[in-house]
Amino acid sequence: MQHRPRRNRKSPAIRNLVREVQLSAKDFIYPLFVHEDDQDVPIGSMPGCTRWSIDGLVKEAGEAHALGVPAVVIFPAVSEDKKNGTADECYNPDGLVPRAIRALKSAHPTLCVITDVALDPYNSDGHDGIVRKKADGELEILNDETVAVLCKQALCHAEAGADIVSPSDMMDGRVAALRGALDAVGYEDVSILSYTAKYASAYYGPFRGALDSAPKAGDKKTYQMDYANVREAVREVMMDEEEGADMVMVKPAGAYLDIIAKVRENTTLPVAAYQVSGEYLMIKSAVDAGWLDEKATVLESLTAIKRSGADIILSYFAKQVAEWEQEAE
Ligand code: PBG
Repeated sequence: MQHRPRRNRKSPAIRNLVREVQLSAKDFIYPLFVHEDDQDVPIGSMPGCTRWSIDGLVKEAGEAHALGVPAVVIFPAVSEDKKNGTADECYNPDGLVPRAIRALKSAHPTLCVITDVALDPYNSDGHDGIVRKKADGELEILNDETVAVLCKQALCHAEAGADIVSPSDMMDGRVAALRGALDAVGYEDVSILSYTAKYASAYYGPFRGALDSAPKAGDKKTYQMDYANVREAVREVMMDEEEGADMVMVKPAGAYLDIIAKVRENTTLPVAAYQVSGEYLMIKSAVDAGWLDEKATVLESLTAIKRSGADIILSYFAKQVAEWEQEAE
């Protein structure tokens, strides 16, 4: 036999030499939930995840950072009485997110703090944009009015010290508008990580449970993408690049590896992918039932995301991966 590919698999040393993709804690952004309470409360819809107090958030982010995770992204659970139809709380300079940013940056100056820019946690309608009810009773999500509020939200996060703002709303033109709004007041150094190809996905269910942020009526299909579409992701990435995004994202990740690969081919920007709450939960629940091995399954799922072309991975397993990496050293 001329070729025996198994020779390259014969020992751990050789397998390591020929391994094409290396996963590392340095690849990760760790998503964390924060609420007003001073208790840290386990999230029923996402076993293993917590709604942190600001103190708890600072501690958890610090532990992950000490293990080698460079960045966190924070998601607020906002009480119903602070929500309204125009999501005004999202740009309150003393709101939960700005306070969390300040606490994180002062405790961990080298930690990269990323914020989510979208209205859903603050919107009494639960949508990422401002809702108008049309005469026929249908809901309309107002694009340009929403973008104006997103700009105020991003400025509020930049003012509090965010390193990167990350629009997850899928309104048209928001990257250019955010870039313009940030630059106009001297925040040229604040980066934009755009949720470029964000699909209308059933896999977000547990996250909406974690934040009580599910839409009160209707769905998100007039702004998030149809999961049947690939070319549309390429179109979105070309537009985001043109509008000034620093990094682009595909979301969800596991069922969208073809999209990650396609986006990778069509941009020179760093590509991020988000292993979302439903993906986390599918693995976690099978592990908790004793059906799958946690470490093996998590590392395989994340390596596949990186192999498909992602430079950066958002995952609820980020800290766990960093712990495994330390144990291996
Ligand atoms: C909201 C937002 C969502 C997620 C991140 N930002 C939910 C949604 O679009 O409905 C989902 C994350 C996850 O499921 O882990 N703009």
